[in-house]
Amino acid sequence: MLQDRDSSAPSKSLANSAWREYHEFTKHSAASLRRTPHALDWANMPDPFRHYEGVPVFDLPADPLLSEQPAADGSTYLSQLLFYSAAISASKLVPSTGFRYALRVNPSSGNLHPTEFHFVTRGLKDWPDGLYHYRPSSHMAEQRAIGDFRHITNSDAPIVFILTSIAWREAWKYRDRAYRYCLHDIGHAWQALALAAQAMGCDSRAIVDFPDDEIAQAMRLNEDEWPMLVVEIRGAACKPNAHETVWYGGTANQLSKEIVPYPCIEAIHAATKLLVNSTIGQAPTGSGEIKLPPPAQSSRPFGEIVRTRRSALDFVGGTQSISLPQLSALLTPAAPLLSFIQLYLYVHRVDGLEQGVYRFWPQYGELQLVKVGDQRLAAAGLSLGQDLAGNACVAFSMIGDLNRAARAHGDRGYRHVHFEAGAIGQRLYLGAEALGLGATGIGAFYDEEVHRYLRVTPEQGQVVYHFAIGYPIPDPRLQA
Ligand SMILES: Cc1cc2nc3c(=O)[nH]c(=O)nc-3n(C[C@H](O)[C@H](O)[C@H](O)COP(=O)(O)O)c2cc1C
Repeated sequence: MLQDRDSSAPSKSLANSAWREYHEFTKHSAASLRRTPHALDWANMPDPFRHYEGVPVFDLPADPLLSEQPAADGSTYLSQLLFYSAAISASKLVPSTGFRYALRVNPSSGNLHPTEFHFVTRGLKDWPDGLYHYRPSSHMAEQRAIGDFRHITNSDAPIVFILTSIAWREAWKYRDRAYRYCLHDIGHAWQALALAAQAMGCDSRAIVDFPDDEIAQAMRLNEDEWPMLVVEIRGAACKPNAHETVWYGGTANQLSKEIVPYPCIEAIHAATKLLVNSTIGQAPTGSGEIKLPPPAQSSRPFGEIVRTRRSALDFVGGTQSISLPQLSALLTPAAPLLSFIQLYLYVHRVDGLEQGVYRFWPQYGELQLVKVGDQRLAAAGLSLGQDLAGNACVAFSMIGDLNRAARAHGDRGYRHVHFEAGAIGQRLYLGAEALGLGATGIGAFYDEEVHRYLRVTPEQGQVVYHFAIGYPIPDPRLQA
Protein backbone atom coordinates (compact mmCIF):
# COMPACT_ATOMS: atom_id res chain seq x y z
CA MET A 1 0.00 0.00 0.00
CA LEU A 2 1.25 3.50 -0.75
CA GLN A 3 1.29 5.92 2.10
CA ASP A 4 1.70 9.70 2.32
CA ARG A 5 4.95 10.76 3.87
CA ASP A 6 5.10 13.39 6.55
CA SER A 7 8.50 14.98 6.12
CA SER A 8 9.51 18.13 4.31
CA ALA A 9 10.10 16.72 0.82
CA PRO A 10 9.63 19.22 -2.00
CA SER A 11 6.18 18.77 -3.45
CA LYS A 12 7.25 19.97 -6.89
CA SER A 13 8.85 17.69 -9.41
CA LEU A 14 12.51 18.18 -10.21
CA ALA A 15 12.41 19.97 -13.54
CA ASN A 16 15.49 21.99 -14.50
CA SER A 17 18.81 20.43 -13.78
CA ALA A 18 17.09 17.82 -11.70
CA TRP A 19 20.33 16.40 -10.36
CA ARG A 20 21.33 19.76 -8.90
CA GLU A 21 18.01 20.25 -7.20
CA TYR A 22 18.04 16.72 -5.77
CA HIS A 23 21.65 17.01 -4.64
CA GLU A 24 21.05 20.35 -2.93
CA PHE A 25 17.89 19.10 -1.26
CA THR A 26 19.61 16.02 0.17
CA LYS A 27 22.69 17.70 1.59
CA HIS A 28 23.34 17.10 5.28
CA SER A 29 23.96 20.05 7.53
CA ALA A 30 23.59 20.48 11.27
CA ALA A 31 20.39 22.43 10.59
CA SER A 32 18.92 19.84 8.20
CA LEU A 33 19.52 17.04 10.71
CA ARG A 34 17.87 19.07 13.50
CA ARG A 35 14.94 19.98 11.26
CA THR A 36 14.10 16.46 10.17
CA PRO A 37 14.65 13.91 12.95
CA HIS A 38 13.61 10.44 11.86
CA ALA A 39 12.48 7.52 14.01
CA LEU A 40 12.81 4.15 12.28
CA ASP A 41 9.57 2.22 11.92
CA TRP A 42 10.97 -1.22 12.73
CA ALA A 43 7.62 -2.94 12.18
CA ASN A 44 7.69 -1.73 8.59
CA MET A 45 11.37 -2.49 7.83
CA PRO A 46 11.64 -3.81 4.26
CA ASP A 47 12.72 -7.42 3.77
CA PRO A 48 16.32 -7.35 2.44
CA PHE A 49 15.58 -10.44 0.32
CA ARG A 50 13.42 -10.42 -2.78
CA HIS A 51 11.89 -13.67 -3.99
CA TYR A 52 9.93 -14.19 -7.15
CA GLU A 53 7.45 -16.78 -5.88
CA GLY A 54 6.06 -19.58 -8.02
CA VAL A 55 8.97 -19.99 -10.46
CA PRO A 56 11.34 -22.96 -10.91
CA VAL A 57 14.29 -22.54 -8.54
CA PHE A 58 17.77 -23.99 -9.16
CA ASP A 59 20.34 -24.79 -6.51
CA LEU A 60 23.76 -23.35 -7.30
CA PRO A 61 26.56 -25.68 -6.13
CA ALA A 62 27.58 -24.72 -2.57
CA ASP A 63 31.04 -23.34 -1.73
CA PRO A 64 32.45 -23.52 -5.26
CA LEU A 65 36.20 -23.17 -5.55
CA LEU A 66 37.40 -20.17 -7.51
CA SER A 67 39.41 -21.34 -10.50
CA GLU A 68 41.41 -19.21 -12.90
CA GLN A 69 39.07 -20.33 -15.64
CA PRO A 70 35.31 -20.50 -15.36
CA ALA A 71 33.89 -23.96 -14.68
CA ALA A 72 32.70 -25.73 -17.81
CA ASP A 73 29.15 -26.32 -16.63
CA GLY A 74 26.76 -23.41 -16.35
CA SER A 75 25.56 -23.93 -12.80
CA THR A 76 29.08 -24.11 -11.30
CA TYR A 77 30.17 -21.08 -13.35
CA LEU A 78 27.23 -19.02 -12.16
CA SER A 79 27.74 -20.26 -8.63
CA GLN A 80 31.40 -19.13 -8.73
CA LEU A 81 30.49 -15.70 -10.05
CA LEU A 82 27.77 -15.08 -7.48
CA PHE A 83 29.43 -16.74 -4.48
CA TYR A 84 32.35 -14.32 -4.83
CA SER A 85 30.34 -11.19 -5.60
CA ALA A 86 26.84 -11.23 -4.09
CA ALA A 87 26.29 -14.19 -1.77
CA ILE A 88 25.90 -14.23 2.00
CA SER A 89 29.35 -14.46 3.56
CA ALA A 90 28.82 -14.01 7.32
CA SER A 91 26.21 -13.06 9.88
CA LYS A 92 25.96 -10.94 13.00
CA LEU A 93 24.24 -11.91 16.20
CA VAL A 94 22.82 -9.22 18.48
CA PRO A 95 23.35 -10.70 21.96
CA SER A 96 20.65 -8.62 23.69
CA THR A 97 17.87 -9.80 21.35
CA GLY A 98 19.27 -13.02 19.88
CA PHE A 99 18.51 -11.51 16.46
CA ARG A 100 20.81 -12.76 13.70
CA TYR A 101 21.18 -11.05 10.35
CA ALA A 102 23.07 -11.85 7.19
CA LEU A 103 26.01 -9.99 5.64
CA ARG A 104 27.01 -10.31 2.03
CA VAL A 105 30.10 -10.18 -0.15
CA ASN A 106 28.98 -6.81 -1.50
CA PRO A 107 28.65 -4.04 1.10
CA SER A 108 25.56 -1.89 1.45
CA SER A 109 24.71 1.27 3.35
CA GLY A 110 22.88 0.25 6.50
CA ASN A 111 23.12 -3.39 5.29
CA LEU A 112 19.78 -2.72 3.60
CA HIS A 113 20.80 -4.08 0.19
CA PRO A 114 18.72 -2.19 -2.36
CA THR A 115 20.54 -3.97 -5.21
CA GLU A 116 19.08 -7.09 -6.85
CA PHE A 117 21.04 -9.27 -9.29
CA HIS A 118 19.13 -10.46 -12.38
CA PHE A 119 20.86 -12.18 -15.28
CA VAL A 120 20.26 -13.38 -18.80
CA THR A 121 22.16 -16.48 -19.90
CA ARG A 122 22.80 -17.77 -23.37
CA GLY A 123 24.52 -21.01 -24.40
CA LEU A 124 25.95 -22.07 -21.02
CA LYS A 125 26.56 -25.81 -20.78
CA ASP A 126 23.71 -27.73 -19.12
CA TRP A 127 21.93 -24.52 -18.19
CA PRO A 128 18.76 -23.46 -20.01
CA ASP A 129 18.96 -20.08 -21.75
CA GLY A 130 16.71 -17.63 -20.00
CA LEU A 131 16.16 -14.83 -17.54
CA TYR A 132 17.04 -15.46 -13.89
CA HIS A 133 16.99 -13.70 -10.54
CA TYR A 134 19.60 -14.48 -7.90
CA ARG A 135 18.26 -15.52 -4.49
CA PRO A 136 21.16 -14.79 -2.07
CA SER A 137 19.28 -16.07 1.00
CA SER A 138 19.78 -19.65 -0.25
CA HIS A 139 22.32 -19.20 -3.11
CA MET A 140 19.79 -20.21 -5.75
CA ALA A 141 18.68 -18.97 -9.15
CA GLU A 142 15.02 -18.26 -9.79
CA GLN A 143 14.14 -19.02 -13.37
CA ARG A 144 11.77 -16.27 -14.42
CA ALA A 145 11.67 -17.33 -18.08
CA ILE A 146 13.41 -19.59 -20.57
CA GLY A 147 14.29 -18.62 -24.11
CA ASP A 148 16.44 -16.15 -25.98
CA PHE A 149 16.49 -12.84 -24.09
CA ARG A 150 19.25 -11.09 -26.01
CA HIS A 151 16.76 -8.38 -26.98
CA ILE A 152 16.49 -7.17 -23.38
CA THR A 153 19.98 -5.68 -23.37
CA ASN A 154 21.01 -6.00 -27.01
CA SER A 155 23.99 -8.05 -25.92
CA ASP A 156 25.04 -11.49 -27.11
CA ALA A 157 27.36 -12.20 -24.16
CA PRO A 158 26.82 -15.59 -22.49
CA ILE A 159 25.94 -13.86 -19.22
CA VAL A 160 24.48 -10.39 -18.89
CA PHE A 161 23.63 -9.07 -15.44
CA ILE A 162 20.98 -6.44 -14.95
CA LEU A 163 21.46 -4.81 -11.57
CA THR A 164 18.31 -3.22 -10.19
CA SER A 165 17.62 -0.97 -7.20
CA ILE A 166 14.72 -1.12 -4.79
CA ALA A 167 14.95 2.43 -3.51
CA TRP A 168 12.33 1.92 -0.79
CA ARG A 169 14.64 -0.46 1.08
CA GLU A 170 17.13 2.35 1.47
CA ALA A 171 14.59 5.18 1.83
CA TRP A 172 13.04 3.42 4.82
CA LYS A 173 16.10 4.53 6.79
CA TYR A 174 17.77 7.29 4.83
CA ARG A 175 14.71 8.98 3.29
CA ASP A 176 15.37 11.36 0.40
CA ARG A 177 19.15 10.93 0.52
CA ALA A 178 18.65 7.21 -0.14
CA TYR A 179 18.90 7.54 -3.92
CA ARG A 180 22.55 8.52 -3.56
CA TYR A 181 23.18 5.33 -1.55
CA CYS A 182 21.35 3.16 -4.08
CA LEU A 183 23.74 4.48 -6.74
CA HIS A 184 26.81 3.85 -4.56
CA ASP A 185 25.54 0.35 -3.89
CA ILE A 186 25.26 -0.35 -7.61
CA GLY A 187 28.85 0.85 -8.06
CA HIS A 188 30.01 -1.57 -5.34
CA ALA A 189 27.99 -4.44 -6.85
CA TRP A 190 29.36 -3.71 -10.33
CA GLN A 191 32.96 -3.95 -9.14
CA ALA A 192 32.17 -7.00 -7.00
CA LEU A 193 30.97 -8.73 -10.17
CA ALA A 194 33.70 -7.37 -12.43
CA LEU A 195 36.51 -8.41 -10.08
CA ALA A 196 35.04 -11.88 -9.51
CA ALA A 197 34.80 -12.31 -13.29
CA GLN A 198 38.38 -11.10 -13.71
CA ALA A 199 39.61 -13.57 -11.08
CA MET A 200 38.07 -16.31 -13.23
CA GLY A 201 39.76 -15.09 -16.38
CA CYS A 202 36.61 -13.44 -17.80
CA ASP A 203 36.07 -9.94 -19.16
CA SER A 204 33.28 -7.65 -18.10
CA ARG A 205 31.84 -4.45 -19.46
CA ALA A 206 29.40 -2.11 -17.74
CA ILE A 207 26.67 -0.48 -19.81
CA VAL A 208 25.19 2.60 -18.21
CA ASP A 209 23.00 3.79 -21.06
CA PHE A 210 19.86 1.82 -21.90
CA PRO A 211 16.15 2.54 -22.17
CA ASP A 212 15.08 2.02 -18.55
CA ASP A 213 11.37 1.56 -19.04
CA GLU A 214 11.75 -0.85 -21.96
CA ILE A 215 14.12 -3.04 -20.00
CA ALA A 216 11.89 -3.00 -16.92
CA GLN A 217 8.95 -3.98 -19.06
CA ALA A 218 10.80 -6.69 -20.96
CA MET A 219 11.96 -8.19 -17.65
CA ARG A 220 8.49 -7.85 -16.11
CA LEU A 221 10.09 -6.28 -13.08
CA ASN A 222 8.00 -5.54 -10.05
CA GLU A 223 7.19 -1.82 -9.97
CA ASP A 224 9.39 -1.18 -6.93
CA GLU A 225 12.53 -2.36 -8.83
CA TRP A 226 14.42 -0.13 -11.23
CA PRO A 227 17.10 -1.29 -13.70
CA MET A 228 20.29 0.68 -13.05
CA LEU A 229 23.28 -1.01 -14.65
CA VAL A 230 23.93 -3.74 -17.21
CA VAL A 231 27.13 -5.80 -16.86
CA GLU A 232 28.20 -8.17 -19.62
CA ILE A 233 30.46 -11.10 -18.70
CA ARG A 234 32.38 -12.85 -21.47
CA GLY A 235 34.80 -15.72 -21.34
CA ALA A 236 32.70 -18.83 -20.92
CA ALA A 237 32.26 -21.38 -23.66
CA CYS A 238 28.94 -20.61 -25.26
CA LYS A 239 26.80 -22.88 -27.43
CA PRO A 240 23.35 -21.39 -27.85
CA ASN A 241 20.45 -23.78 -27.30
CA ALA A 242 17.18 -23.42 -29.12
CA HIS A 243 14.37 -22.79 -26.66
CA GLU A 244 10.92 -21.50 -27.15
CA THR A 245 10.21 -18.63 -24.82
CA VAL A 246 8.23 -19.67 -21.76
CA TRP A 247 7.47 -17.13 -19.08
CA TYR A 248 7.07 -18.12 -15.44
CA GLY A 249 7.43 -14.54 -14.24
CA GLY A 250 6.68 -15.18 -10.60
CA THR A 251 5.14 -12.96 -7.98
CA ALA A 252 7.51 -10.63 -6.23
CA ASN A 253 7.27 -10.85 -2.44
CA GLN A 254 5.95 -7.78 -0.64
CA LEU A 255 8.87 -6.23 1.21
CA SER A 256 6.99 -4.34 3.91
CA LYS A 257 3.45 -3.59 5.00
CA GLU A 258 3.52 -0.11 3.55
CA ILE A 259 5.71 1.75 1.11
CA VAL A 260 6.20 5.37 2.07
CA PRO A 261 6.50 7.40 -1.15
CA TYR A 262 9.44 9.74 -1.64
CA PRO A 263 8.49 12.04 -4.53
CA CYS A 264 11.94 13.54 -4.61
CA ILE A 265 13.48 10.10 -5.30
CA GLU A 266 10.85 9.31 -7.92
CA ALA A 267 11.64 12.62 -9.60
CA ILE A 268 15.42 12.24 -9.70
CA HIS A 269 15.05 8.71 -10.96
CA ALA A 270 12.68 9.80 -13.72
CA ALA A 271 15.01 12.66 -14.70
CA THR A 272 18.02 10.36 -14.94
CA LYS A 273 16.27 8.04 -17.39
CA LEU A 274 16.92 10.40 -20.28
CA LEU A 275 19.88 9.36 -22.43
CA VAL A 276 22.17 12.20 -23.47
CA ASN A 277 25.67 11.70 -24.77
CA SER A 278 28.10 14.36 -25.78
CA THR A 279 31.81 14.67 -25.25
CA ILE A 280 32.92 13.76 -21.82
CA GLY A 281 35.54 16.51 -21.39
CA GLN A 282 38.92 16.15 -19.81
CA ALA A 283 39.49 15.00 -16.27
CA PRO A 284 41.80 17.53 -14.61
CA THR A 285 45.43 16.52 -14.55
CA GLY A 286 48.04 17.64 -12.12
CA SER A 287 50.98 16.48 -10.14
CA GLY A 288 52.22 16.35 -6.59
CA GLU A 289 55.54 16.44 -4.87
CA ILE A 290 55.26 12.87 -3.50
CA LYS A 291 55.62 9.97 -5.89
CA LEU A 292 53.97 6.80 -4.63
CA PRO A 293 56.34 3.83 -4.36
CA PRO A 294 55.52 0.45 -5.95
CA PRO A 295 52.48 -1.08 -4.22
CA ALA A 296 52.91 -3.54 -1.33
CA GLN A 297 52.03 -7.07 -2.43
CA SER A 298 49.50 -9.39 -0.83
CA SER A 299 49.57 -13.17 -1.01
CA ARG A 300 45.96 -13.61 0.14
CA PRO A 301 43.84 -15.37 -2.49
CA PHE A 302 41.08 -13.33 -4.10
CA GLY A 303 38.31 -15.72 -2.98
CA GLU A 304 39.36 -15.44 0.65
CA ILE A 305 39.64 -11.65 0.45
CA VAL A 306 36.14 -11.09 -0.91
CA ARG A 307 34.52 -13.64 1.40
CA THR A 308 36.12 -12.15 4.55
CA ARG A 309 35.73 -8.47 3.61
CA ARG A 310 33.75 -6.59 6.25
CA SER A 311 33.05 -2.99 7.11
CA ALA A 312 34.88 -1.93 10.23
CA LEU A 313 32.68 -0.51 12.99
CA ASP A 314 35.60 1.60 14.12
CA PHE A 315 39.37 1.57 13.97
CA VAL A 316 42.08 1.31 16.60
CA GLY A 317 43.19 4.93 17.01
CA GLY A 318 46.56 4.51 18.74
CA THR A 319 49.86 4.84 16.98
CA GLN A 320 49.90 1.92 14.53
CA SER A 321 50.44 3.24 11.04
CA ILE A 322 50.41 1.92 7.49
CA SER A 323 53.37 2.14 5.15
CA LEU A 324 53.60 4.20 1.98
CA PRO A 325 53.76 1.03 -0.21
CA GLN A 326 50.51 -0.08 1.51
CA LEU A 327 48.91 3.26 0.69
CA SER A 328 50.15 2.80 -2.86
CA ALA A 329 48.51 -0.67 -2.94
CA LEU A 330 45.20 0.96 -1.96
CA LEU A 331 45.36 3.79 -4.48
CA THR A 332 46.88 2.09 -7.51
CA PRO A 333 43.92 -0.22 -8.29
CA ALA A 334 41.49 2.70 -7.88
CA ALA A 335 43.41 4.94 -10.31
CA PRO A 336 42.07 3.47 -13.61
CA LEU A 337 38.49 4.11 -12.49
CA LEU A 338 39.02 7.78 -11.70
CA SER A 339 37.22 9.71 -14.36
CA PHE A 340 34.74 12.04 -12.63
CA ILE A 341 36.08 11.54 -9.10
CA GLN A 342 39.04 13.27 -7.45
CA LEU A 343 40.38 11.65 -4.28
CA TYR A 344 41.32 13.72 -1.25
CA LEU A 345 43.09 11.92 1.60
CA TYR A 346 43.06 12.85 5.28
CA VAL A 347 46.35 11.24 6.27
CA HIS A 348 46.43 10.48 9.98
CA ARG A 349 49.07 7.74 10.22
CA VAL A 350 51.05 6.80 7.13
CA ASP A 351 54.81 6.24 7.57
CA GLY A 352 56.81 8.80 5.67
CA LEU A 353 53.91 11.23 5.18
CA GLU A 354 53.33 14.14 7.49
CA GLN A 355 49.76 14.48 8.78
CA GLY A 356 47.62 16.53 6.47
CA VAL A 357 45.22 16.54 3.55
CA TYR A 358 46.56 15.31 0.22
CA ARG A 359 45.15 15.26 -3.25
CA PHE A 360 45.82 12.13 -5.30
CA TRP A 361 46.84 12.67 -8.92
CA PRO A 362 46.29 9.29 -10.58
CA GLN A 363 48.02 9.93 -13.89
CA TYR A 364 51.53 9.81 -12.39
CA GLY A 365 50.61 8.22 -9.08
CA GLU A 366 51.47 11.33 -7.07
CA LEU A 367 50.23 12.99 -3.91
CA GLN A 368 50.00 16.73 -3.43
CA LEU A 369 49.96 18.13 0.10
CA VAL A 370 47.13 20.67 0.30
CA LYS A 371 46.73 21.17 4.06
CA VAL A 372 49.17 20.52 6.88
CA GLY A 373 48.40 19.23 10.37
CA ASP A 374 46.40 16.73 12.38
CA GLN A 375 43.17 15.95 10.48
CA ARG A 376 41.58 13.47 12.90
CA LEU A 377 38.97 15.79 14.38
CA ALA A 378 38.18 17.31 11.01
CA ALA A 379 37.74 13.96 9.24
CA ALA A 380 35.45 12.61 11.96
CA GLY A 381 33.53 15.88 12.28
CA LEU A 382 32.97 16.18 8.53
CA SER A 383 31.75 12.55 8.45
CA LEU A 384 28.80 13.49 10.66
CA GLY A 385 30.85 13.02 13.81
CA GLN A 386 31.66 9.37 13.08
CA ASP A 387 34.79 8.50 15.08
CA LEU A 388 35.94 5.90 12.57
CA ALA A 389 37.03 8.59 10.10
CA GLY A 390 39.36 10.01 12.77
CA ASN A 391 40.61 6.68 14.13
CA ALA A 392 41.47 5.34 10.66
CA CYS A 393 45.00 5.59 9.31
CA VAL A 394 43.64 7.38 6.27
CA ALA A 395 40.20 8.74 5.41
CA PHE A 396 38.95 9.97 2.03
CA SER A 397 36.62 12.52 0.50
CA MET A 398 35.60 11.63 -3.05
CA ILE A 399 34.88 14.82 -4.97
CA GLY A 400 32.67 14.22 -8.00
CA ASP A 401 32.71 16.52 -11.00
CA LEU A 402 28.92 16.59 -11.26
CA ASN A 403 28.93 19.51 -13.70
CA ARG A 404 31.15 17.74 -16.21
CA ALA A 405 29.11 14.57 -15.87
CA ALA A 406 25.93 16.55 -16.54
CA ARG A 407 27.48 18.23 -19.57
CA ALA A 408 28.40 14.80 -20.93
CA HIS A 409 25.31 12.80 -19.97
CA GLY A 410 22.62 15.22 -18.81
CA ASP A 411 20.95 14.30 -15.50
CA ARG A 412 21.98 10.67 -16.07
CA GLY A 413 25.53 11.81 -15.38
CA TYR A 414 24.49 11.94 -11.73
CA ARG A 415 24.28 8.14 -11.82
CA HIS A 416 27.69 7.83 -13.52
CA VAL A 417 29.48 9.80 -10.80
CA HIS A 418 27.95 7.83 -7.94
CA PHE A 419 28.55 4.48 -9.66
CA GLU A 420 32.17 5.49 -10.05
CA ALA A 421 32.41 6.44 -6.36
CA GLY A 422 30.92 3.09 -5.29
CA ALA A 423 33.23 1.21 -7.65
CA ILE A 424 36.30 3.00 -6.22
CA GLY A 425 34.98 2.21 -2.75
CA GLN A 426 34.78 -1.48 -3.63
CA ARG A 427 38.39 -1.50 -4.81
CA LEU A 428 39.46 0.28 -1.61
CA TYR A 429 37.56 -2.29 0.50
CA LEU A 430 39.28 -5.21 -1.24
CA GLY A 431 42.68 -3.51 -1.27
CA ALA A 432 42.43 -2.94 2.49
CA GLU A 433 41.30 -6.51 3.16
CA ALA A 434 44.16 -7.89 1.04
CA LEU A 435 46.63 -6.04 3.30
CA GLY A 436 45.01 -7.26 6.52
CA LEU A 437 43.46 -3.84 7.14
CA GLY A 438 39.80 -2.86 7.47
CA ALA A 439 37.70 -0.32 5.61
CA THR A 440 34.31 1.37 5.76
CA GLY A 441 32.32 3.30 3.20
CA ILE A 442 30.79 6.46 4.65
CA GLY A 443 27.73 7.90 2.96
CA ALA A 444 26.99 10.43 5.71
CA PHE A 445 28.89 13.71 5.67
CA TYR A 446 28.24 17.44 5.95
CA ASP A 447 28.36 18.32 2.27
CA GLU A 448 29.04 22.05 2.34
CA GLU A 449 31.37 21.80 5.32
CA VAL A 450 33.53 19.39 3.32
CA HIS A 451 33.67 21.85 0.41
CA ARG A 452 34.64 24.70 2.71
CA TYR A 453 37.24 22.63 4.54
CA LEU A 454 38.90 21.33 1.40
CA ARG A 455 38.39 24.63 -0.45
CA VAL A 456 36.69 22.79 -3.28
CA THR A 457 35.04 25.23 -5.64
CA PRO A 458 31.63 24.52 -7.21
CA GLU A 459 33.34 24.32 -10.62
CA GLN A 460 35.68 21.65 -9.32
CA GLY A 461 32.98 19.38 -7.96
CA GLN A 462 31.07 18.27 -4.90
CA VAL A 463 31.64 15.61 -2.29
CA VAL A 464 29.80 12.38 -3.11
CA TYR A 465 31.31 9.72 -0.82
CA HIS A 466 33.62 9.32 2.17
CA PHE A 467 35.76 6.35 3.07
CA ALA A 468 38.07 5.23 5.89
CA ILE A 469 40.82 2.61 6.15
CA GLY A 470 42.80 1.45 9.17
CA TYR A 471 43.17 -1.28 11.77
CA PRO A 472 39.66 -2.48 12.58
CA ILE A 473 38.44 -3.08 16.12
CA PRO A 474 36.97 -6.59 16.38
CA ASP A 475 33.18 -6.83 16.24
CA PRO A 476 32.02 -9.38 18.84
CA ARG A 477 28.71 -9.81 17.00
CA LEU A 478 30.40 -11.19 13.88
CA GLN A 479 29.88 -14.91 13.16
CA ALA A 480 31.66 -16.70 10.34
C1 LIG B 1 27.36 3.47 0.22
C2 LIG B 1 27.69 3.05 1.62
C3 LIG B 1 27.60 3.96 2.64
C4 LIG B 1 27.92 3.58 3.95
N1 LIG B 1 27.89 4.52 4.95
C5 LIG B 1 28.29 4.18 6.21
C6 LIG B 1 28.39 5.16 7.23
O1 LIG B 1 28.11 6.35 7.01
N2 LIG B 1 28.82 4.75 8.46
C7 LIG B 1 29.15 3.44 8.74
O2 LIG B 1 29.55 3.12 9.87
N3 LIG B 1 29.07 2.49 7.77
C8 LIG B 1 28.66 2.83 6.52
N4 LIG B 1 28.63 1.88 5.52
C9 LIG B 1 28.97 0.48 5.82
C10 LIG B 1 27.70 -0.39 5.92
O3 LIG B 1 27.04 -0.12 7.13
C11 LIG B 1 28.06 -1.86 5.77
O4 LIG B 1 28.46 -2.08 4.44
C12 LIG B 1 26.89 -2.75 6.08
O5 LIG B 1 26.55 -2.71 7.45
C13 LIG B 1 27.17 -4.20 5.69
O6 LIG B 1 28.31 -4.67 6.35
P1 LIG B 1 29.52 -5.28 5.53
O7 LIG B 1 30.11 -4.18 4.72
O8 LIG B 1 30.45 -5.79 6.58
O9 LIG B 1 28.97 -6.36 4.66
C14 LIG B 1 28.31 2.24 4.22
C15 LIG B 1 28.40 1.33 3.18
C16 LIG B 1 28.10 1.72 1.88
C17 LIG B 1 28.22 0.71 0.78
